[in-house]
Amino acid sequence: MSIKLESVSKTYQLKGRKVEALKETSLEIKSGEIFGLIGYSGAGKSTLVRLINLLEQPTTGSVTVAGEDLTKLTKHELRQKRQKIGMIFQQFNLIESKTVYENIEFVLKASKFDKKNRTARIKELLELVGLGDKAEIKSSNLSGGQKQRVGIARALANDPDILLCDEATSALDPDTTKSILKLLNRINKDLGITIIVITHEMEVIKEIADRVGVMSKGEILEIGHTYDVFSHPKHEITKDFVQEIYNFEVPNQFKATRENQVITIQFLSENAEENYLNKLYRNFDLNISILNGRIEYIKDQPLGFLMFQVTGKEEEINRLKSHIDQTNGIERVGYIG
Ligand SMILES: Nc1ncnc2c1ncn2[C@@H]1O[C@H](COP(=O)(O)OP(=O)(O)OP(=O)(O)O)[C@@H](O)[C@H]1O
Ligand SMILES: [Mg+2]
Repeated sequence: MSIKLESVSKTYQLKGRKVEALKETSLEIKSGEIFGLIGYSGAGKSTLVRLINLLEQPTTGSVTVAGEDLTKLTKHELRQKRQKIGMIFQQFNLIESKTVYENIEFVLKASKFDKKNRTARIKELLELVGLGDKAEIKSSNLSGGQKQRVGIARALANDPDILLCDEATSALDPDTTKSILKLLNRINKDLGITIIVITHEMEVIKEIADRVGVMSKGEILEIGHTYDVFSHPKHEITKDFVQEIYNFEVPNQFKATRENQVITIQFLSENAEENYLNKLYRNFDLNISILNGRIEYIKDQPLGFLMFQVTGKEEEINRLKSHIDQTNGIERVGYIG
C-alpha cells in the first residue's frame, strides 16, 4: 500500500518555544517496498513515522495512505484505518505480566476480531514469527529477540498492509538483530507488506532497505536506492554512516607527499579484487602496500573498499590514478580516510 506525504511538517510547542521536529517534507513510499530512514538521535525520524499513522497530527501538509487522505478522516474512520498500519518499537510494548497468547489476544479483542477464530489466528501468528511453542509463557520470561517476535505478531494481528518499525532492533544484540531483520524481510516478501524501518544503525539499513532516506535536523538530506546512496554519499552525515561500516582511516602518522600517497578505491560490483591488484602490481612501477580492505553487502549487492599506500615516481602514481579512473566498476573515493 503506497504512502504519500505532501509538504508535511511538525512543530512542537515546548514551554512557549517552537521545536521544528520535521521541516516541510514530501515523500512517497511505494507499495511493497522496504523503506529505511536513518539518522542520529533527534533527527526527526520518530516524528516522521508517527505522522504516517497520524499518531501525531501534522502541523502542515497531508498524509495519503492507499489514496486516502488521513488528515480528512473522522476519529472512527482513522481508528479503522490504523488497524491496517502495524507498528513495532524498541521497547517491544508488551504486557509483561501476561502470556504471549494473551498479549496477542489483547490486540484481537480490541479490534473485535471474530471470537471463534481467535485461537486459530493466534496460533497462525505465532508460527509465522517462530514462537509456535511459546504461547503459554509469560512475556517477562522471554528474551529480547522473542519479545520483539511477539511485538511483530501483535503488529500483524489485524493483517496490516503497512508495518512501521521504530528502532525495532536497537535493544538487541547483533545476532538477534540479524534474525529479526530476516523475519521482517520474509514478512515483506511473503505477505507483501510495505515496511518502514527507522534506525540509527547502518547494519539495519544495509541488510533490508530497498531505498533509504538520510535524516538530519528535521530534514531528509538525501534519498534513493540504498546501494546508490551509500556508494555515492553526498552529505557529510551520509559519509559518516558509510565510514561507520567500513571503518577506514588513514593512519595518523602518515604524511602524504607527491611520491607517497594513500589511495582508496571502491568496487561497485563482484569484481575480483585480487585480480585487479595483481594487475596493478604488474603494470605499474610502484610499491603498493595494502592498508585496509573490506567488502560489505548492501541488500545482497557487494560494495568493496580497498585502501593502499603507493610509493614511487609522481608521474607513475598519476598514471595509476588515471588508470583507476578509467576502469569500469572501480572508483577512487576521496572522502574516506
Ligand atoms: N512531544 C514533543 N514535544 C516537544 N518536542 C518534541 C516532541 N517529540 C519530539 N520532539 C523533538 O523533536 C525532535 C525530533 O525528535 P524525534 O523523536 O522525531 O527524533 P528521532 O530521530 O526519532 O530521535 P531518536 O533516534 O533519539 O529516537 C527532537 O528535538 C525532539 O526533542
Ligand atoms: Mg526516535
